[in-house]
Amino acid sequence: MANEAKNSGSTDAVVPAQSHGNIGSAVGTAVISPDAVENPGLPPHRKRVTDIDPKREKRAERTVYTLFYLSIVGSIGAVLAYMFFPIESGELWQVRLHTLFVGLGMTLALLAIGIGAVHWGKAIMADHESIDERHPVPSSPEVRAEAAEVFTVADEESGFSRRTLVRNSLIGALIAFPIPGIALLRGLAPQDQDPVVLLKHTMWEEGTRLARDLGGAAVGAPIRAADVTIGSVFHVVPENLDQATHVLDEKAKAIVLLIRLDPEDLTEPEDRKDWSYNGIVAYSKVCTHVGCPVALNEQHTHHLLCPCHQSQFDVSDQAKVVFGPAKRPLPQPPITVDDEGYLVARSDFTEPVGPSYWERLK
Ligand code: FES
Repeated sequence: MANEAKNSGSTDAVVPAQSHGNIGSAVGTAVISPDAVENPGLPPHRKRVTDIDPKREKRAERTVYTLFYLSIVGSIGAVLAYMFFPIESGELWQVRLHTLFVGLGMTLALLAIGIGAVHWGKAIMADHESIDERHPVPSSPEVRAEAAEVFTVADEESGFSRRTLVRNSLIGALIAFPIPGIALLRGLAPQDQDPVVLLKHTMWEEGTRLARDLGGAAVGAPIRAADVTIGSVFHVVPENLDQATHVLDEKAKAIVLLIRLDPEDLTEPEDRKDWSYNGIVAYSKVCTHVGCPVALNEQHTHHLLCPCHQSQFDVSDQAKVVFGPAKRPLPQPPITVDDEGYLVARSDFTEPVGPSYWERLK
């Protein structure tokens, strides 16, 4: 049986329901609405105070150009700070002063431009509402044909396809052009020293005591083996680090983590048995992935974790990689104790620290 169409009193069309097979009962009424959501349109335009009062408009204009002038002052200040607070010795206070004042200048420059531009837009620029109708995405066939014609004419007139030698040599020249830029990267290394030697050697040498790292260029007291309890971790630098010419550069290469395990837990190959002392091992703190400081120690699993990309190294087994993108174990400097019980290096690292580089095995 079919239902009768009912008039709901609205403009909606009412469609009779269909009967349902042999059951023969009605299943409902379908309603087709011509426009479900009415376009609410734009709210009425409200004038700003600067539209009404010329004095307020003038004041807003003054604020905007004052901010832009302030930005110029900030930029000049940053350049002056760069000149008057140079980083010459590499000492931490110099780095701090330099970055503080250059940073303040740049912050002022950017902030003032940003605030000025926003204020300009909000207070002075015309603020009438306008609607930009969306145009069709593809260009018309005529425009596309015109563009293709431009390419064809350009190709014919330049002889790009016809003169193959010219074309190929141009492609070659464009490929070769960036190569000097790559070669110039060499200039980032000191001119008078072989960068491979610089990267390969650190301040550790036979007899150098292991001292606590106090942060920055500060060096703490040397460490006795008896001070290192099982499970403890020390951040360690060479005792004579503060005598280096470039303290932070040297620290970046030489810094190590000192950890004591139960000697039973250590897996050491025969030729490395004397690289540790009573379960105390040292490993480079510089991740072999891209050089972040590996600073998180999981005491129970004996894993060192690099927070940058989650590489994990097994402290109990030569700091081998157990997880993550690092490809090499953390280098291990051999250590022992001197006559007074202080931990000392037996030599420099036996391999370069940090990320791999192309001349690492040279
Ligand atoms: S730098 Fe350590 S995992 Fe990437």
